[in-house]
Amino acid sequence: MRYGNERGLEKATKSRVKAKIEWNIEYLVSLDERAERDAGDILSLIVQYFEAIGSSGNSINLGIGDLDHDLFDVLKEEAVRRITSGYNKYTQTAGIPDLREEVAKYYQRRWKCEITSKNVIITPGASNALFMSIASVLRGGGEVVIPTPTFPSFSALTLIMGGRVYEVPTRMEEGFKPRAETIASKLGEKTCAVIINSPSNPTGSIYDEDLIGALVDECKRRGVYIISDEVYERFDYTGRYTSLAKFWDSYDRIIIVNSFSKTLAMTGWRLGYMVIPEHLYSRVMRLQAFINACPPSVAQYVALFALRSPEVERLIDAKVAEYRDRRDGMWRELSEAGVQVLLPEGGIFLFPKIPLEMDSEAFCNRLAKSKGVITIPGRAFGAGGERHFRITISAPINTLTEAARRIASFIEECRASK
Ligand SMILES: Cc1ncc(COP(=O)(O)O)c(C=O)c1O
Repeated sequence: MRYGNERGLEKATKSRVKAKIEWNIEYLVSLDERAERDAGDILSLIVQYFEAIGSSGNSINLGIGDLDHDLFDVLKEEAVRRITSGYNKYTQTAGIPDLREEVAKYYQRRWKCEITSKNVIITPGASNALFMSIASVLRGGGEVVIPTPTFPSFSALTLIMGGRVYEVPTRMEEGFKPRAETIASKLGEKTCAVIINSPSNPTGSIYDEDLIGALVDECKRRGVYIISDEVYERFDYTGRYTSLAKFWDSYDRIIIVNSFSKTLAMTGWRLGYMVIPEHLYSRVMRLQAFINACPPSVAQYVALFALRSPEVERLIDAKVAEYRDRRDGMWRELSEAGVQVLLPEGGIFLFPKIPLEMDSEAFCNRLAKSKGVITIPGRAFGAGGERHFRITISAPINTLTEAARRIASFIEECRASK
């Protein structure tokens, strides 16, 4: 009898395990198909960012969203010190407490809000924080509303996770900023989140306090999460940059994604963070534990040093001033060449209009082939991006001037050959 029961149990367990494996396989296959079908197009354009690194040769590569300066020397020294004194193991899953505390203090100081270390989870880059943000709020069959042109990961991640994307195209004539009422009209029963990015990659627009406040109000009315990607926060050329943190105390469905990648020019170190409401903490911690185990150790100590260092603060300010000069120079050169381009309010990109009857991929390919200037087709950034191309200003001013000269001559040659 006992034997019979055990056999029955074994059989039942086996069939449960088999069903689970089959379900997992099916899940993986469907994830793969989704990535292939829906996000494949976006992904292939993202891959171009990285392929451009290898193919630059003697050409001018203005395709990559990376900084052209190295990690500051004081931070390299801190990294070496930490490596040699044994900080090479796992850390706490949410990140080292001192760093979480320091991030929280930064928000309290700057935005006068009640973010505490319990709201902060350190992640391997903003990319990972974006993944965990979307994963933690996307219900089955849920929808995400995204003003575009914007960073392609928002749509790609949503699609990969089985969600639906509603793009809200913005117009250059309106500074590439959405109207709150247009966003509101897209929020429905199934909407889980709105994702914004200011300063924007690729447009350089900064959402002011009124716009962010209006978007928060609309999300609040519908109980929808608002996720704000603020990785370019330090690259503000207007003094009007506002973090979503300003509204933290007024709504409990706010998620802020940020990174040390751009501010500290440490893109390869993979360190970012997310600021989340406490009710999401255990959900995100489960994702973090299973996906990342913990954020990278030495990078966290480097970031902690940076946040506490007035010297690093001055070095960042000096770099941002340099980027402002580059932005001014590149914008002037292109405008004088008759290219329509907004003066970016922030970030590290310009997003000019293509002044020819050519789609954005054809324009960028032909520009790269004939003049060796690598840029990214606006199509990669979603609806509203197609008639544009993205240029990074992450290069010395002489290089940017030379690139602008080549772009102008390419346009002239195309016009002449018509
Ligand atoms: C808007 C935006 N968000 C997130 C990221 C990813 O940042 P990280 O290097 O921290 O993953 C980038 C990188 O280019 C970006 O432009």
